[in-house]
Amino acid sequence: MSIHIEAPAGAIADTILLPGDPLRAKFIAENYLDKPEQFNRVRNMFGYTGTYKGRRVSVMGTGMGMPSHSIYVNELLREYQVKTLIRVGTCGSLQADVKVRDVILATAASTNSNVNRIRFAGMDFAPAADFGLLEKAWRIGRERGLKLRAGTIISSDSFYSEDPEAWKLWAKFGVLGIEMEAAELYTLAAKFQAHALAILTVSDSMVSGESTDSDEREKTFRAMAELSLETAIAD
Ligand code: HPA
Repeated sequence: MSIHIEAPAGAIADTILLPGDPLRAKFIAENYLDKPEQFNRVRNMFGYTGTYKGRRVSVMGTGMGMPSHSIYVNELLREYQVKTLIRVGTCGSLQADVKVRDVILATAASTNSNVNRIRFAGMDFAPAADFGLLEKAWRIGRERGLKLRAGTIISSDSFYSEDPEAWKLWAKFGVLGIEMEAAELYTLAAKFQAHALAILTVSDSMVSGESTDSDEREKTFRAMAELSLETAIAD
């Protein structure tokens, strides 16, 4: 048991999928895991452990934004010794050729957050994906015919920015998408010698203003969940 997770020791698998939305964790558990058992209800941040193709896998929501994400990931790493963490999320596109419904594998995450400035006493850390996971997700995603992109993203501390043009600076530097969690996930995974990857469906475009409706979001979410689970169990 940790402060925000009520699971007993051993109830969480080494490998965990992390959607932001706890109802998406429930959806993955109910639709893809065999014999899922719920290990967390605290704050309705649902978490489950079951098996996928015979391999033990967990899935748990983390909430939105780095502060919430950080609490759960810290506890999973510190108290439950989780070793592989795959964020399953959405992002906004910052590039004209990154379309709604594409899937981005985030190779590294810049951030406008101060969390690493504080952690590294004003110096910069480069939060990066685990190369082994990245290579597996790329290979499996290509085999499954997904429209995949691999590249950098920006993890932002705000969804509603004071400056509606702020994203353009990141776009100029080739950043593919904007979301709110991966930089903290990658930093914490590095600290605890764990493996992390963010797999993100593009849900909206800052460039075109296009966004997906809820039906499309469910369909694209299924494709991303399947890619994440296959990556989680791949040797
Ligand atoms: N900004 C931040 N996070 C997001 C966005 C966005 O536009 N779209 C999906 N997640």
